[in-house]
Amino acid sequence: MAVVKEKIPLEFHRMSRAEQHACLDNFLSRLHFRREVKSFSKSEIPIEIIKNAIKAAGTSPSGANQQPWSFVLVSDPKVKTQIINEVRSETPTLVQAPYIVVLLKQKYGQEKDVSGKTVKVKHYYPNESVGICGGFFITALNQAGLHYNLHKPVKLLSSILQRSEKEEPFMVFSIGIADEWEDKKHHNLQDFVSFDFKEESREFEISAVPSHKSGPALSSADYYNSIKKRRNIRDFSQEEIPAPLFTKSFGALYSSPFSDSYRFAVISNEETKALIREKAEEEEKKFYEEKITNEWRDVLKPLGTNWEKAHLTDAPYLIIGFKVNNDIDHDLSYWDKNRPIVSSGVNTGILMSALHHANLCMLTHTPSPMMFLRDLLHRPKNEVPIVVIPVGYPADQCQVPNINKKPLRDILTTFTESEGEPS
Ligand SMILES: Cc1cc2nc3c(=O)[nH]c(=O)nc-3n(C[C@H](O)[C@H](O)[C@H](O)COP(=O)(O)O)c2cc1C
Repeated sequence: MAVVKEKIPLEFHRMSRAEQHACLDNFLSRLHFRREVKSFSKSEIPIEIIKNAIKAAGTSPSGANQQPWSFVLVSDPKVKTQIINEVRSETPTLVQAPYIVVLLKQKYGQEKDVSGKTVKVKHYYPNESVGICGGFFITALNQAGLHYNLHKPVKLLSSILQRSEKEEPFMVFSIGIADEWEDKKHHNLQDFVSFDFKEESREFEISAVPSHKSGPALSSADYYNSIKKRRNIRDFSQEEIPAPLFTKSFGALYSSPFSDSYRFAVISNEETKALIREKAEEEEKKFYEEKITNEWRDVLKPLGTNWEKAHLTDAPYLIIGFKVNNDIDHDLSYWDKNRPIVSSGVNTGILMSALHHANLCMLTHTPSPMMFLRDLLHRPKNEVPIVVIPVGYPADQCQVPNINKKPLRDILTTFTESEGEPS
């Protein structure tokens, strides 16, 4: 029997600096500054474009590679009507949009134990993972020249879409090509993103707000082929990355539907990185040696991770992602309570997609626990760290775990006019 390799070489094509900027600029030019769609046009959109965008979303990183998401793609008018009756809000665009897509979170997984019995598998960081996947999806839609509105993921959608008990609606999209937009002022990214080196030079400015008209769309298959090359790496080179390229990537956040409830703090200072590494390794040592459950150890095994976190000091930049909780938390609807994690997760996904197209590598890392970051960075109580993302170039001979993504058929259910029944 052929031996399956645990690690494989990272597929990484190092670009020249000019190519890096050109690739990122092309990526940014296909994003558009996010506004509400007022009406969708009647243009027909081949379903393959949406399916490729879902495939692109399926390449997203996830806690222990559990990929705790599924998608439902609806074009069948009967099913659409049922959804519209439940979601109610912003009905005109839901009615006009040729497609509705529901992104669901899988609260837990299932597998067979040694006796063949189906058992539940706990999912790790499912909200963060599905949020990032949502950000990958939004970016893929934009790159393919499509527009969307977001709608409330009401619980009743589960029964309309015949979902199992373990799945929970997370985001609802009406998708098409916009005819008319609502006016909206862009949010000021400087209020949400801070760089510890910002004061040193005015060169490090976040890129300009994208225009309302985006550049020519990329084929959704080409975009899938580009984003699927992203891998999380754990061996970083200590080589500097061009700061203007790095900071420009944050401009992608202007395309986000979420302009609140998140924050990114960027650390480049060696002393602060060393402090973060020291604290993270202290926590991780406790975790790997004392706290880890057998179940958690099993799901982490294919990744070959341990308590040592050299990437926290090797990578030139660390991005700390925070969700920002609303001060008045009571009486909020389910959707509003979830908003900070959805917003910060989606924005992490959008930012990661941009950094990948700047030819940079990352790791979505969650030291467990990571509340120490809030105190270390002097952030207020309502800011909760959700992820630490070292960014840089891969070390020579960098290898990555030999793991797979679920095929489209395992994450997608469709309700189309011809089929009627889910497939
Ligand atoms: C929310 C979240 C938390 C993660 N936490 C860690 C972590 O603490 N340590 C680590 O090495 N990788 C972590 N990862 C990376 C995943 O293990 C990785 O995304 C997954 O194995 C799939 O590999 P890929 O990103 O290369 O496609 C995390 C990913 C996500 C989305």
